[in-house]
Parts: sequence; C-alpha cells; structure tokens
Amino acid sequence: MKMILLGPPGVGKGTQAQRICDDFGVVQISTGDMLRKGVKEGTPLGKKAEGFMSKGELVPDDVILGLIGETLFADDAPKGYILDGFPRTVPQAEGLKKMFEDNNEKLDYVLLLEAPSDLIVKRLSARRSCKKCNKVYNLVSMPPKTEGKCDVCDGSLYQRVDDKEETIKNRLDIYKNQTEPLVDFYSKTENLVSVDSTGSPEEVHKNILKVLKG
Ligand code: AP5
Repeated sequence: MKMILLGPPGVGKGTQAQRICDDFGVVQISTGDMLRKGVKEGTPLGKKAEGFMSKGELVPDDVILGLIGETLFADDAPKGYILDGFPRTVPQAEGLKKMFEDNNEKLDYVLLLEAPSDLIVKRLSARRSCKKCNKVYNLVSMPPKTEGKCDVCDGSLYQRVDDKEETIKNRLDIYKNQTEPLVDFYSKTENLVSVDSTGSPEEVHKNILKVLKG
C-alpha cells in the first residue's frame, strides 16, 4: 500500500501514520522527522533546513525531492509506505509523479485530513515530543504518565521551536498558499478522499480505516 497523508500542520498526520503502520505493516516516511534528525545531528541537510524550519517556512523543493528520491525506492518497505508531510507543493507533487512513472509504481490513496484552524492551534500549542525517541504527546489529549517524561524511554519532553503561536500562524498561512493547491491537483489525478479529523485520535483512526478497508 502506498499512500499520501495530506493536511495542515498539526491535524494529526504523524499520529495517524503510526497507527496505520501498526495496522498494515507499512513504513512511515516523514520528511519533517528526517529533517529534524538532520538538524539534531548537524548534517549538511540539517544545516540547509534549520533556518527555514525554525520560521515555519518550507525547505526548498530541490532539497526535499533529493531527500525523497534517495528514500522512496530503497527496497526496505515491502508492504508499502505512508508519505507524511510530502509532497507539500505542486512542484514536489509533480516530482513525485515522475518518480512513480519512472519506477512503474502507483499511488493507492491520497487521504486529506481536515480540521479547523482554531482546533489545530490548540493541538500544536499542547504538543510535546520526546528528545530521545521522538514519541509525540499532547498535554491535553495524550498526556504522558509522568509530567515532562516519555512513557516509553524516560527521555525528556520538549516543545518544537515551530510550535510557538506566531510560527504556527505562519505555517497555517503557508499551508493555505502552497500546500492546499494539492487538493485540486490530486482531485484531478488521483482518488483523493477527505477524512474528518476533528474527533479524538481513536475516532479519526476509525474514519481512516473505513476508507482503507472499504
Ligand atoms: P512536519 O514535521 O511535516 O510538520 P507539519 O506538517 O507541520 O505537521 P506536524 O508534524 O506539525 O503535525 P501532524 O499533522 O503530524 O500532527 P501530530 O500527529 O504531531 O514539518 C515541519 C517542517 O519541516 C515544515 O514546517 C518545513 O519547514 C519542513 N518540511 C517538512 N516536510 C517538508 C516538505 N515536504 N517540503 C518542504 N519543507 C518541509 O499532532 C499534533 C498534536 O495534536 C500532537 O500533540 C498530537 O498528540 C495531537 N493530536 C493528534 N491528533 C489528535 C486528535 N485527533 N485529537 C486530539 N489531539 C490530537
């Protein structure tokens, strides 16, 4: 199964991607996670990306397409993958289309997760992530058992630099201007399905399974 999870920042793409991976044995490919790893390790990729990410701006298309090109057909995802946070612009979607054509591959699903901006700002402001294993929590909807500590590895929890309120607003504007045109792009070329993502993580997961299991 090969699918794209499309949707605004903080709508729950990462949260749902992990659940779908557990259900179907597919692999999550998150450009955001790959870039954050690069920033943390100080790699050339991380150095290129850091300034854009801290302001909530998109990393240039050529950098992202290079990164995805190296990852997508690496043969380590026999049951398929979920693209989380990619593509994010029309040139990225066109680049992906060409990669699929060149490799005789086909996308199975494009799921659009949708929730209103005020709910998204609340979710992102309360997000905390583990410094060590990257597990994502939410102080309101998915709090850790011990304040400030990861349930899984006991690592410290931190707030992402781009989850400050001003930066969240910038990310939402960028989504509207640069990523939302993909809804039209995929409505014309693929079977894009919209998923109500306003409910709890469990409810959104059920909504997604309805689409995937028919
Ligand atoms: P990226 O990491 O992809 O960020 P994003 O798309 O902005 O998405 P998020 O990770 O913020 O949110 P999410 O939808 O995964 O929500 P989550 O599940 O965590 O990108 C970061 C940056 O990297 C970009 O700004 C850009 O600079 C760069 N970048 C990445 N890809 C790029 C690309 N292709 N091109 C160019 N630049 C790129 O949930 C959010 C919170 O809500 C969590 O706390 C969670 O616990 C909680 N939550 C989730 N679902 C629910 C629910 N149903 N109910 C209640 N709480 C919920």
